[in-house]
Amino acid sequence: MAKYKAGIIGCGRVAGLLEHDKLRGHPCTHAGAYTAVDKTEIVAGCDINEDRLRQFGEEWGVNALYKDYRKMLEQEDLDIVSIATWGDTHAEITIAAAEAGVAGIICEKPIALSLIEADKMIETVERCNTRLVINHERRWSSNYHKARELIEEGEIGELKLINANTLGGGYGCVWNRDSSPVMLEDYTLVRDGTHLMDMLTFFAGEPDWAVGFVEMERWDEGVFVPDVAHGIIHFESGVMASVEASGGRGYFNFELDIQGTRGRILIGNEALAMWKTDVSPRYEGFWELAERPFPAPEEQRNIFVGGVEDVIKCIETGKESISNGNEARLALEMIMGIYESARQCGAKVEIPLTVRSSPIKTIVNTFGPPKETRFL
Ligand SMILES: NC(=O)c1ccc[n+]([C@@H]2O[C@H](COP(=O)([O-])OP(=O)(O)OC[C@H]3O[C@@H](n4cnc5c(N)ncnc54)[C@H](O)[C@@H]3O)[C@@H](O)[C@H]2O)c1
Repeated sequence: MAKYKAGIIGCGRVAGLLEHDKLRGHPCTHAGAYTAVDKTEIVAGCDINEDRLRQFGEEWGVNALYKDYRKMLEQEDLDIVSIATWGDTHAEITIAAAEAGVAGIICEKPIALSLIEADKMIETVERCNTRLVINHERRWSSNYHKARELIEEGEIGELKLINANTLGGGYGCVWNRDSSPVMLEDYTLVRDGTHLMDMLTFFAGEPDWAVGFVEMERWDEGVFVPDVAHGIIHFESGVMASVEASGGRGYFNFELDIQGTRGRILIGNEALAMWKTDVSPRYEGFWELAERPFPAPEEQRNIFVGGVEDVIKCIETGKESISNGNEARLALEMIMGIYESARQCGAKVEIPLTVRSSPIKTIVNTFGPPKETRFL
């Protein structure tokens, strides 16, 4: 059987270079996953950076190399395109790939940097009948699926609250006082927060309102990190989420503490644990949480392979991905909801937002270059 022909746009870390990291599970990149899946082959690569492009060609045995993605889309008869460029280009490249007739797209997260862009992407892939998969890769994680299965089976009672955080440091938004933000995507709430928000909808369903607090942190002379965001998200299901996405930490942490009426599941990059209610060994007439082994999933799937297999399945069946554009846009709605609420000094904002332009830009335009400014 002929293989699906894949082209990769943006030949950086997540496209292929992360395979050099010996500590990670492999494959952990787009190129690695296309190589691992029998039904796909990489036939073309594109990057504006010539060194990266050359290295990509050498490492993955790809000869058709382009500096201009439009030329690549024109000259190669691609079935699947991966978009592994920076977030500010995801919309324009997704739209071009769909309009070029590509059957499936795997686009990196975040879906886009504004809801206007995300709306256009979704409208275009629907019009062009293209299957769009956003690489929120926990959607293909066996552990996250097991956690959701346990919740659906009532193992922790009725879902009430999710305390979620993504914490990091050292790579917040680099912001020159004299210029616009270099990359909005580098805010912790956008960069890693999009994964966190996506997992909130995975467990709690559709959000309906948000409240946010954003803090601008001074990082270094001439450079600012507007990198502390706290939010409360309410879901149609009645579930609440409390979210922190912040820099300023000397470590990386990503976790969701999922609390039900009769138990709790902790899941994250390092965490996987479960507690259920039990009679207290300390106080008569009380119930407490007692740790129970987290049941092992039937199989452990590779999450990057999961994304490629998903796009193939979507192309073959015409069905939408578990990580489609609409799902990813919900994550962006929550991120923008937190920023929009912060812009309105902590007002409760309805989701979907009526304001489709980015409130981050408005915050910058309203207050000018930040000077240890706080927003509440
Ligand atoms: N899903 C994940 O776990 C995960 C992990 C890392 C990065 N990402 C996302 O992947 C994207 C890329 O991140 P990265 O860390 O690989 O960045 P990177 O800087 O290592 O790679 C991006 C590459 O895209 C190229 N590029 C930029 N604009 C281009 C254009 N118009 N045409 C062709 N090439 C272009 C750059 O030259 C660069 O080589 C980001 O959106 C990031 O958020 C996702």
